[in-house]
Amino acid sequence: MSAPAAVLAGLGAHVPPRTVTNDELSRRMDTSDEWIVQRTGIRQRHWADFGVATSDLAVEAGRQALKSAGAGGFGDIGLLVVATATPDQQCPSTAPDVAARLGLGTIAALDVGAGCSGFVYALATASAALVAGHAERALVIGAETFRPFLDLTDRSTAVIFGDGAGAVVLRRGTTDEAGAVLTVDLGSDGTLKDLVGIPGNGSRHRSTGRPAHPDEQYLYMNGKEVFVHAVRRMAQSSSAVLDQAGWSVDEVDHVVGHQANLRILHALARQLGVDRERLVCHLDQVGNTSAASIPLALADAASRGRFRSRDRLLLTAFGAGLTWGSAALTWPGTTLA
Ligand code: ACO
Repeated sequence: MSAPAAVLAGLGAHVPPRTVTNDELSRRMDTSDEWIVQRTGIRQRHWADFGVATSDLAVEAGRQALKSAGAGGFGDIGLLVVATATPDQQCPSTAPDVAARLGLGTIAALDVGAGCSGFVYALATASAALVAGHAERALVIGAETFRPFLDLTDRSTAVIFGDGAGAVVLRRGTTDEAGAVLTVDLGSDGTLKDLVGIPGNGSRHRSTGRPAHPDEQYLYMNGKEVFVHAVRRMAQSSSAVLDQAGWSVDEVDHVVGHQANLRILHALARQLGVDRERLVCHLDQVGNTSAASIPLALADAASRGRFRSRDRLLLTAFGAGLTWGSAALTWPGTTLA
């Protein structure tokens, strides 16, 4: 039976022009192309130049998504959700500025912070708003500028993260349409908040009245621990969302997992019982772009003509918080890229 649903109607992506290869990093820190490729699958990432902020990348990706949806400016899009762990500043949030710069006027605009799961959380937020009738069309952007938060003396994080933004336009439609977001599963475990984060700039720290230690301004990560939780939670959440959608694993055409580490994606495929050919992998080109990683992977695969109308996609992500989330959707009938 058909029911109201958000339907994918536009897609956009943007990465800053500067490419940073593994070899370049090997000249700056004690690492090697061989280690990075074998342990992560990453070959290069893009880093924004100093002075370029998350909103700048978000505006570019958002503009492309609006163009691909044939969406106009003010009055056409009723909601903007920006998923990011690296907002332009603590306050105000980044989304209103992005909305204004895209010519979207005085629409509802908010940031969603859920680390690398941010895009799935934002997709769920916008889908719910569309289904509830709060807007006819929504723009969802995942955008990150991690470079300023990377400690270049910490090789365990500096080689992993990249900058970029990906965006989708959603419209209010029905579950039987190609492109429908059918179901989502979200979760969190705050008892593990200390495994990955940037502690320095929030109210907890400032409440102590002493300046942040320089190290606390940077991203830290217990990679080994995060790895284990990432595989377990993405596998559980994927199974939950497939159950809700009434899909068997064999019916999934493409698994678009958070692009953190190729070994994580391979372990996920093993746990789900999915062959690796169905994994969408883009991290070799961009590294871990956190909230931007799923829409960037979608845009890359779409531009290569990988998806066909009504293909079944499983999105699944994991990140700081800890947070995780998955979505089941079909691919729209129109070419989006
Ligand atoms: N180059 C060379 N050697 C390195 C590097 C490097 N860049 N980084 C670490 N090493 C060394 C370590 O020092 C260690 O050496 P030792 O054995 O002599 O002590 C060895 O390599 C192994 O280190 P591990 O940390 O055990 O390496 P691991 O195989 O776990 O890979 C990695 C590290 C890539 C970070 C992995 O753990 C990972 O991908 N974790 C998950 C990340 C993730 O999913 N993040 C998502 C959330 S992030 C967010 O929300 C913002």
